[in-house]
Amino acid sequence: MENWQSRFAFLMAAIGSAVGLGNIWRFPYVAYKNGGGAFLIPYFVALFTVGIPLLIAEFAVGSLFRKSAPLSMKEISRKTEWIGWWSVLSAFFISIYYSVIMAWCLCYLFHSFSLVWQPDASDFFYNQFLHITSSPGILGSINMQIVFALLFIWVSIFLILYKGVKSIGRVVAITVPLPTILLLILALRGVTLPGSSTGLEFYLAPDFSKLAMPTVWLAAYAQIFFSLSLAQGIMIVYASFLKKGSDISNNAFITALADGGTAFLAGFAVFGVLGYLAYQTGLPMDEIARGGIGLAFITYPTAIAKMPFAASFFGVIFFVALLTFGIDSAFSMVESITNAFKDKFGISREKATFIICMIGFLLGLFLATGGGIYWVEIMDHFVSNFALVFVGLLECLVFGYVLGGEKIRQYVNDVSEIRIGKWFSIMLKLFAPIILISIALASIVEMATEGYEGYPAWSLMLGMIFVILSFIAAIFFARLRKCQQEQ
Ligand code: ALA
Repeated sequence: MENWQSRFAFLMAAIGSAVGLGNIWRFPYVAYKNGGGAFLIPYFVALFTVGIPLLIAEFAVGSLFRKSAPLSMKEISRKTEWIGWWSVLSAFFISIYYSVIMAWCLCYLFHSFSLVWQPDASDFFYNQFLHITSSPGILGSINMQIVFALLFIWVSIFLILYKGVKSIGRVVAITVPLPTILLLILALRGVTLPGSSTGLEFYLAPDFSKLAMPTVWLAAYAQIFFSLSLAQGIMIVYASFLKKGSDISNNAFITALADGGTAFLAGFAVFGVLGYLAYQTGLPMDEIARGGIGLAFITYPTAIAKMPFAASFFGVIFFVALLTFGIDSAFSMVESITNAFKDKFGISREKATFIICMIGFLLGLFLATGGGIYWVEIMDHFVSNFALVFVGLLECLVFGYVLGGEKIRQYVNDVSEIRIGKWFSIMLKLFAPIILISIALASIVEMATEGYEGYPAWSLMLGMIFVILSFIAAIFFARLRKCQQEQ
């Protein structure tokens, strides 16, 4: 049985998984779009009502059963193993496009030395770098630069994982503190640039009227949910490597607060620089601020190129920060699925890791084409808004009602430094399911009425088919053992 070398190693791994690309480009954008400073209210409410309870529950289940997500779910009931499979398959889906975005970051790290995206970062990104096609239906040719970068990312993931948790522990001791220091440097640089106050005001000025809008609350829950790496089997498998009797609740609080704190800090780095860009170009902030892929590969690089001194240096540290923040999230997703296969089919860690990394790389090749970016966006939208929300909801119900919220609470209180009250079971059994059902319904209604970012209906159908296929595959894997046992 593998174990973390220390509590520090476990904490760094859990924080490393939670803090990722999502904190840097997603949080600041979601915050400004949903009420700026006032968004912190729903954000922290979401953190305490769903984020922390589900994180505590996942840690508890992992440390109680000491197995990967599917087999831990099976310990709760034979009928719930498939939920664990659905969670690890979702993690694997995310790792496929996540590693492609990291491959772009790696290419941009090298491009930072000569600030090659000048004078038009948007034209560079879409046309010269991605060779973007006109629609998701046309994949175009494979981009060899991205393929080599992608291969490097997957080989790194394999090398970090195949030796086991001890090697993960050594890697996260670097890949968590290093980007945090880099982010601090970027935040300091951001807030000291001329015009930064305009950006920060845009980010933080509270618009309390937004708090009355349900979509703002839903955005907060979605952000917490995805950023904390919940419902992907990751926190369960990481906690399964804890020594018996290890603390649960304090570790969950530290992980969640570190994740939220990093996202908040990233806002200073991002919006300080965007304010500077507004000051330099004379454009209004709402034209400059955009989230997602455009922020990291177009807006931020544009601003960096305009910095008064050491522009390349800040470009390099931005992309090193993204890569190091991203790598521990990426390998945690792969670790989640490899352990599931290893546990269930008795294959070695090396073999399981190799096979999964190989499949991940090969599937990623489809996204290294001119039409790849469309599919990155579509996959991200469907997995995060549907698969993770469904799995999270199912987990709350199974943990709360089948295993028992009070049973988990008792176990957590027996081993932890911080005692948790009855609120924990109430959140898990009532509050979280109601919120997650609302998120799921709102996402379905939004998808049906407004579509998504102008994508053709057939491509959205295909996105939904991915989710449905992962559900069917989950049931298939859960049944497989039964067949074997019956023979
Ligand atoms: N939790 C990871 C992130 O925020 C996946 O990027």
